[in-house]
Amino acid sequence: MALVVACANAQPPERPIPRIIEREGHHALLVDGAPFLMLGAQVNNSSAWPSMLPKVWPAIEFLHANTVEMPVYWEQFEPQPGRFDYRVLDALLAGAREHHVHLVLLWFGTWKNGSSHYVPEWMKLQPERYPLMRDAKGRPVDSPSPFAEESRKADIRAFSALMRHLKQADVQRTVLMVQVENEAGTWQCVRDYSPAAQKAFEAPVPVELLDALHKPAGQANWQQTFGDDAEEFFHAWFVARYIEHVAAAGKAIYPLPLYANAALRDPLKPGRPPGYESGGPTDNVIAIWKAAAPSLDLVAPDIYLGDSPRYLKVLDLYALPDNALFVPETGNGANFAHYFFAALGHGAIGFSPFGMDYTGYSNAPLGATRITEETMAPFALNYKLADPMDREIARLNFEGRLLAVSEEKGNPAQTLSFGNWQATVKYGLPQFGPGDHPAGNPEPVGGALVAQLGDNEFLVAGIHCRVDFQLANASGMQRQFLRVEEGTYENGAFHAIRVWNGDQTDWGLNFTSAPQVLRVKLGTY
Ligand code: DGJ
Repeated sequence: MALVVACANAQPPERPIPRIIEREGHHALLVDGAPFLMLGAQVNNSSAWPSMLPKVWPAIEFLHANTVEMPVYWEQFEPQPGRFDYRVLDALLAGAREHHVHLVLLWFGTWKNGSSHYVPEWMKLQPERYPLMRDAKGRPVDSPSPFAEESRKADIRAFSALMRHLKQADVQRTVLMVQVENEAGTWQCVRDYSPAAQKAFEAPVPVELLDALHKPAGQANWQQTFGDDAEEFFHAWFVARYIEHVAAAGKAIYPLPLYANAALRDPLKPGRPPGYESGGPTDNVIAIWKAAAPSLDLVAPDIYLGDSPRYLKVLDLYALPDNALFVPETGNGANFAHYFFAALGHGAIGFSPFGMDYTGYSNAPLGATRITEETMAPFALNYKLADPMDREIARLNFEGRLLAVSEEKGNPAQTLSFGNWQATVKYGLPQFGPGDHPAGNPEPVGGALVAQLGDNEFLVAGIHCRVDFQLANASGMQRQFLRVEEGTYENGAFHAIRVWNGDQTDWGLNFTSAPQVLRVKLGTY
């Protein structure tokens, strides 16, 4: 009887708080204690209102996304100073649970795309208390000052209220991560020239930054220490310090993974601000952000650069031993979909096209001119393929056993090395016949992932490509397929549905626009 009463009163075991871990340079986002891959979709800026959600969920379902990125608007969240309105946030939590997806919340606080358009009206009406930056001529700039102490205090108070509410309203761990601000920094000028900023610019560079950059401690100011980069580095440091205060306060309440996203600079021909947004975590100041904002788990690139040299370079720059790769925004045009594979190949913990809803807005030319099932189909195909095995992909990536590539224009064949075996990925071949002269697809839409499960066993999946294997050494031995099973994953277990042979394997493993997953056992002859 006592046992029955005890069981009836038992609370469900508390779920672990999501967190990001690193081992030997590989990362994983742990959800319910195990690696998880975010198959994400970000909604349009003004879509996270309860009245708009009926136009959001059908797009998310069509995409097979498992995580939705939704803004939380400061102006809605704190309509009067110190009075918080949780209704919209609660609607997002309830809607996500009903649709069986996780959330990443985007705190549209002090910064949104370099401006402060989401601060509450009561702040906008008090510019002396919550000041904007000043340009070199002393004129106000449409960007918040990182030296605005009252703004910082207000942001800390609001962000803390958000995290406090999540802590008690989300024991289900629907929310996996929170983005602190959105594309922080400044477009119009390189730094703040207000009197407070000017004083800091002429003062010695903080010793924590010098230490982090392995520079000798000293009394030199920013100009003396960093020369031509001084103004940009200065702005990055103080924007990141401001955000650190906000992030640290929130994390002390509820330690979810936190991150900041970057409006990128051209990774191949960067130029200088104001050619790109100054102050945010662009690739040249990642180390500054790491030193200034240790409460952020990562900094993340918003990738709208459609050509593969630039896209791949950005992935290289943000996939670092001390920075898990997460692509929180990318273009929603069909030409961006295949970069999902390259992101996985760089160990990404998540990938998320932007503007995925049926509210009718299009951010072309950054993305597609209309969002329809047709334009979303290539993204949906990626997620249909990955969704049943998202946990396996995340675990294999964390264990360093997964390699993946996207097709690049003018490069119709790629090689993936796994010790004794090499996998080749070729694009633009017919399904029947040898693969000596791949032409590439008319547009680069292909991609593949290959993971080593055992010495001679591989998991293989792809889109618009052919995958085959060879021995890496020059022994003269040829590969043979001992067994090629197509199957599905259910709760982590692979279930074969058929065996491929004959035309389906004689020329290699051909993938089309069908979401197919293979387990391949190799031998030699
Ligand atoms: C990047 C921003 O982070 C998004 O919120 C959005 O404004 C896009 N740019 C453009 O649609």
